Amino acid sequence: MKIIHISAECYPIAKVGGLADVVGALPKYQNEIGANSAVIMPFYNTKFTQSHKFTLVYQANLILGNQELNFDILKIEDAVLEFDVFFVHVEDLLYTESVYTDNDTNRFLAFQIAALDWILTLKKKPDYIHCHDHHTGLIPFMAQESYKYESLNKIPVITTIHNAQYQGWMSYDNLYKIPEFNIENVGLLMWDGMINPLAAAIKCAWRVTTVSPSYMEELKYSANGLESLLSHESSKAVGILNGIDSAVWNPETDKFIIKNYKKTTVESGKKANKEWLCSQFNLDQSKPLFAFIGRLVGEKGAELLPHALDYALRSKDIAVIVLGSGAKETEKELFDLILKHKGNYNAFIGYDEKLSHIIYAGADFLLMPSRVEPCGLNQMYSLRYGTVPIVRRIGGLKDTVVDIGDHGFGICHNEVSEQDIVVAINRGKEFYTQQKEFKANRKHIMSIDHSWEVSAKAYINLYNSIN
Ligand code: ADP
Ligand code: GLC
Repeated sequence: MKIIHISAECYPIAKVGGLADVVGALPKYQNEIGANSAVIMPFYNTKFTQSHKFTLVYQANLILGNQELNFDILKIEDAVLEFDVFFVHVEDLLYTESVYTDNDTNRFLAFQIAALDWILTLKKKPDYIHCHDHHTGLIPFMAQESYKYESLNKIPVITTIHNAQYQGWMSYDNLYKIPEFNIENVGLLMWDGMINPLAAAIKCAWRVTTVSPSYMEELKYSANGLESLLSHESSKAVGILNGIDSAVWNPETDKFIIKNYKKTTVESGKKANKEWLCSQFNLDQSKPLFAFIGRLVGEKGAELLPHALDYALRSKDIAVIVLGSGAKETEKELFDLILKHKGNYNAFIGYDEKLSHIIYAGADFLLMPSRVEPCGLNQMYSLRYGTVPIVRRIGGLKDTVVDIGDHGFGICHNEVSEQDIVVAINRGKEFYTQQKEFKANRKHIMSIDHSWEVSAKAYINLYNSIN
């Protein structure tokens, strides 16, 4: 079974968030169970692309409206990953330092056209094309409708929605850039008067998945305008919970953390990582350590953190560390708290993969007060590292964390509010004082299995169900 994943991100090549983690792991786990799974992504100017060698696989011109652009398909020279990655290199458009820019319409249009142009030339075509998020949302339409790609229209295209907040909207005047199709079918591209790549994907893909079952249900009521569409297409839609790459996220072998540990050595292992964090960030290591890691955006409830943390820190009996970047206002507020709560609070405003691993390892609790959480990987990483997740009951968080009050192992709250966050932190504090139960819980959560094996199979079963 030959599968091609098409995505804007893939770990460790280019990562902004969880999309990269998923596309960097799912193909590997699919290959382990006998599939032949590869990835096509843009060639960005990242640390990874600068430090590896690439070979040219294919070269041609693509037509983007009235522009003709040269593109290369590249492949990594050495087998550094456990699956093939093919890169679309369009020098003037895609070779940017950041994955996303303020002007992405032409970038991802060119990417999608180049990807399909190349697939068209392959002797052995994929059996399935698996698209991720709106950046690849026009592929299901083009593969089905554009005359140029007619020979691909029997290949099932699957779209996975990682986040329906972003839909890739573009104005009608971009229509002429999409390879020619029967204009009577233009409605498939449109939603609310605009070209909407995510909506087009939901309409045209053979199957639609979300990254957790709860998120699929929630989208029927709250999908940034696409609610009725998702309800209408629900017969071909299913939620499949993400997994985690248990080779990358393994406290026993993790090269980023200060001291490796397993279930039987969790106490000393976490202690060493916590000590390092507390000394680097000037935090009191005798206090329970609460952490937040993530994009500082509304979806994550991040704008509530400054006030909630300010309030929770007044009692001076907790330590807090924040790692994140995003909305400037929130960044500033979180930064300003450092002086106010010196010794009990610190923040690293930015992106740091290594530090994130040490925080998962060294913290006692991980906060996720998300407003929207299609799946969320942080809570699953934190479980693997013996760190208790404190989450809002939403999307994938609801599917993966059970409250200690319901014979579970985490702390859950219902609302996205400062008050709920503070109450949840207080419950965490209380739980921490019951050291015997707390330590037993740590061991327990480390053995909860969220590895990709199960979900990789679920995707294969989904492909197989398409006839
Ligand atoms: P989303 O994709 O919505 O941001 P996920 O929970 O799916 O949320 O995944 C977030 C991923 O990005 C995790 O691997 C998390 O550790 C990582 N991450 C987020 N912010 C940062 C940061 N500032 N530094 C390092 N890693 C981060
Ligand atoms: C998105 C979602 C996040 C999910 C990730 C990977 O970025 O916001 O909840 O875990 O995709 O699927």
